Amino acid sequence: MNQYLIVNEWEIIEDSFISTNNRVSEGIFSLGNGYMGQRANFEEHYSGDSLQGNYMAGVYYPDKTKFGWWKNGYPEYFAKVLNSINWIGIDILIDGEVLDLALCKTEVFRRTLNMKEGFLERSFEATLPSGKKVKVLSKRFLSIVTEEIGAIKYSITPLNFTGELEITPYLDGDIINEDSNYDEKFWEEVSKVNSKGKSSLKIKTKRLDFHVCSTMTFDIFQKGKMLSLPIHETSKDKYISKTVKVSCNPDLETVIYKYVSNVTSRNVPLDSLTEKSFDLIEKAQSKGFDYLLNQQADAWEEKWLESDIVINGDLSAQQAIRFNIFQLNQTYTGEDDSLNIGPKGFTGEKYGGSTYWDTEAYCLPFYLATADEKIARNLLVYRFKQLEKAKENAKKLGYKKGALYPMVTMNGEECHNEWEITFEEIHRNGAIAHAIFDYVNYTDDKAYLGEYGLTVLTEISRFWEERVNFSQEKNKYVILGVTGPNEYENNVNNNWYTNRIACWTLEYTLEVVDYLKINNPIRFEELEKELELNIEEMKKWKDIIANMYYGVDEKLGIFLQQDGYMDKEQLLVKDLEQSNLPINQKWSWDRILRSCYIKQADVLQGLYLLESKYSLDTIKKNFDFYEPRTVHESSLSPCVHSILAAKIGYKEKAYEMYLRTARLDLDNYNNDTSDGCHITSMAGTWMSVIHGFAGMRVNQGNLSFSPFIPELWDNYSFKIVFRKHLLKITVNKNEIIISKETGEELPIIIKGINYMVKDILTIVL
Ligand code: BGC
Repeated sequence: MNQYLIVNEWEIIEDSFISTNNRVSEGIFSLGNGYMGQRANFEEHYSGDSLQGNYMAGVYYPDKTKFGWWKNGYPEYFAKVLNSINWIGIDILIDGEVLDLALCKTEVFRRTLNMKEGFLERSFEATLPSGKKVKVLSKRFLSIVTEEIGAIKYSITPLNFTGELEITPYLDGDIINEDSNYDEKFWEEVSKVNSKGKSSLKIKTKRLDFHVCSTMTFDIFQKGKMLSLPIHETSKDKYISKTVKVSCNPDLETVIYKYVSNVTSRNVPLDSLTEKSFDLIEKAQSKGFDYLLNQQADAWEEKWLESDIVINGDLSAQQAIRFNIFQLNQTYTGEDDSLNIGPKGFTGEKYGGSTYWDTEAYCLPFYLATADEKIARNLLVYRFKQLEKAKENAKKLGYKKGALYPMVTMNGEECHNEWEITFEEIHRNGAIAHAIFDYVNYTDDKAYLGEYGLTVLTEISRFWEERVNFSQEKNKYVILGVTGPNEYENNVNNNWYTNRIACWTLEYTLEVVDYLKINNPIRFEELEKELELNIEEMKKWKDIIANMYYGVDEKLGIFLQQDGYMDKEQLLVKDLEQSNLPINQKWSWDRILRSCYIKQADVLQGLYLLESKYSLDTIKKNFDFYEPRTVHESSLSPCVHSILAAKIGYKEKAYEMYLRTARLDLDNYNNDTSDGCHITSMAGTWMSVIHGFAGMRVNQGNLSFSPFIPELWDNYSFKIVFRKHLLKITVNKNEIIISKETGEELPIIIKGINYMVKDILTIVL
């Protein structure tokens, strides 16, 4: 844990330059707009430790995998969203001496992420080795109005000298991915164009032929006047720059406005990339930086109107929740159904920007409740569009039918090659099915079931049908050789969560079949033919449901995480010396596998997803048993525990777990934020407040709340979008206020009692 950021309600602030924190800050202060994103690298040259990162969503590379021991069924490649053209660069030479914070004495430094208006700002005063001192201010943003546009205002003022500034804005496509498996470079140049003061660089990936074209232009001002200066161009492989020289003297500010457009062959036809990029940049330049920034602020204001959470009485919690919401909105906007949410978003290379079960199990509820339903729908359509690949994947592993979605993917193909994850973490199929339920349950968009839902559910059910086997010994169906959500156990039998989510999928698929038969018979008939649905397989599904094996410990009244779990030495995390933690860094894998310690919610993950099917007593007994054995070494863990603790009434535990998830990156809790931020777990933080503290649920169309307020907070409020209504919910120490901002009157259940919300409803708790 390393707390060096200043607490503020709308900003993340770093107020001194400590180079050892730089990689962490580069992740935390990242910018994104769903279409592209970047780490908070400096504009000017920096020779210190830094992970450069500019990413274009969906532009990836199939990097040849590294493996110790090849296993049949492994994928050939690991897809990674590529570090793309560095378009923020502005090199500064001061009388021939490079401005490089790694070489300077930095006296004043402030880096601010303005979450309210969506920009990054940095200011510093630095003394160069020569003794020359400058003041620099930079501000930049990635437009959420015109997604291809990024703009930078960079100003430099000498404080103690008269001399010459050499300013070089550039585009650099000669970049690397640090995680390149064979130290390969992934890009090659296609072309460069210089025209009417604009420079354009087009590069393409060495495989798959993704093209990215960036075009830059810039204006330089002194004393409010635009300067017309001779320009020296430099062009080398995958690189283009323009250099100008200006005289400067003490307190004379030189301001550079750099505008860049970034287009890709994902959205624009190959032959019009350059033209489109020029067109966009011309428009952006003519509007000017201040105009674009105002537009940006207005657009963010609208986003916040639907997604903000206000917490009074706890500034640190307020900052944290806004940071989480900001990063989620920066990562995914839902406009493109071929995009998804990488666990690190645009903030680092880890996990390759690929899609994990995180999306369905953790992220969906946030987008469902804070934006138009089409945004969440697109996350589902993404999987529908990849169904054929999921079927191929099942075939590749030897199944006769059905679909096994990949654990890690970019285009629907599995990219992960650790057998215990690739082949065994099949529970992901259950989360993908459950997301369909979640979406329809929340939105009531039942048309989705006929359109795409049943098709995906059927193929997943077919996979489960083939994956189970009947144990003569137990006289039950079993699922052998899996890894549950707890990755600190591999190749276990009858992981309760996997068995349960498999059967739940079968149950839900049958329910959807019945629903469509009655409510949409024409479409059902079509689907029956298309999918070759038959009575026999449905009979088999019912038989599996009725005869699935679930391990239980009758004495303790708990579900068994897997066969043999109780044979392990039963120890609690509180009894471990601190020096053992995190066990994934301190212990051998052998020791981890034999221990009873749990990485993340496993049985509890099932009770969380299927909560309505279990009594409070069952949830409590399982929580009391499993939570004390859980080390929460996945960022996805604390949120589920926080929500269940809130449900049970363990308020302090709920708050403790909330703090752990909310400030995970801001306080670098797991000492790994230098890899980037934990974007998918940020949705879990949001859920901890809305589903946890406020106790929001939707059951059979009924919206309900069962709120409490953490001791430290005076009150909290949030907005949700629910079936064409925008609601504001405020929870005070002793009351809940629901105000309906748009939509018809709405029935709401509060702590089990039915109410009708006309405009404002205030209920004393
Ligand atoms: C977790 C997985 C998760 C992945 C990406 C791992 O540490 O155990 O459940 O999908 O991180 O977030």
